[in-house]
Amino acid sequence: MQQLRRNRRLRTNDAIRSLVREHTITPHDFLVPLFVVEGKGVKEEIASMPGYYRYSLDLLVDEVKGLWAMGLKSVLLFVKVPDALKDNKGTEAVNPDGLMQRAIKTVKEATPEMLVMTDVALDPYSSYGHDGIVEDGYIVNDETCKVLADMALSHAQAGADFVAPSDMMDGRILAIRELLEQENFKNTGIMSYSAKYASAFYGPFRDALDSAPGFGDKKTYQMDFANRDEAIKETLMDIEEGADIVMVKPGLAYLDLVRDVRDVVDVPVAVYQVSGEYAMLKAAAEKGWLDHDAVMLEQIMAFKRAGAHIIASYFAKDVVKLLG
Ligand code: PBG
Repeated sequence: MQQLRRNRRLRTNDAIRSLVREHTITPHDFLVPLFVVEGKGVKEEIASMPGYYRYSLDLLVDEVKGLWAMGLKSVLLFVKVPDALKDNKGTEAVNPDGLMQRAIKTVKEATPEMLVMTDVALDPYSSYGHDGIVEDGYIVNDETCKVLADMALSHAQAGADFVAPSDMMDGRILAIRELLEQENFKNTGIMSYSAKYASAFYGPFRDALDSAPGFGDKKTYQMDFANRDEAIKETLMDIEEGADIVMVKPGLAYLDLVRDVRDVVDVPVAVYQVSGEYAMLKAAAEKGWLDHDAVMLEQIMAFKRAGAHIIASYFAKDVVKLLG
């Protein structure tokens, strides 16, 4: 038979490729993680995340104004807590004058329309570097959920638009949702880290916040990376408990789950391209082994193709600059 169908006709030049392109990247896809520290005039580079910084509140102002001007309208806040304020109860996590609470207010004052999401988990506040309260070497579930709910309420009171529980305790979404409703924060949203795996890709992030577990690992609460179906179970439970947005984390090595989740849920799906993914590309590019910008765009597009509506990424600014 004569060749009638030729796929290459749709690849002949840039114009036709643009015309038939299935996915695009825009600034609106991104959620920008920001690391906040105490002090004044602090902008310190994270050793294992070249080109990424921790900011003190005064410099955070410039940073979020810059993001807003670039069309980046959503941030995800993390704080680095001084050792002296860490304990096993998350006392500092619910301090109305804590760094997170001040960071929320700072961002809202500098850029009132910026969507502010906050990390909810105890690890940066924990003397053990764990996401919950530790008893006899075990991370206790229900007691932790209570603190997480108080922490989420405290963020809402400070002005957070969304809270983002990243701890993987059972029932934390319900605990948070119930308390927010009860306290009349009906419009404060929850972005749940619903399928969050126990991953070695979080290494650089734990450097950034000095939050590495002091003993053991996180495998009794974060998911086993050998499991696929379990991601659906976790995600559907979180939606039932009141999650407005669900997330798969990490990103690139977990694209199958982004697609699985996207296919079964009716809420927006986020993916987190985590610190180790950022570090890998930066390191390879530094050595001249990979084309940084080309690989970055390819990875971001992979998240879109897999079905993510929202991409939390340390590359957000780099990507938007490149898009022009
Ligand atoms: C804390 C938290 C972690 C990340 C986001 N929130 C680390 C962890 O669970 O150990 C990882 C983000 C990244 O690696 O970029 N609960």
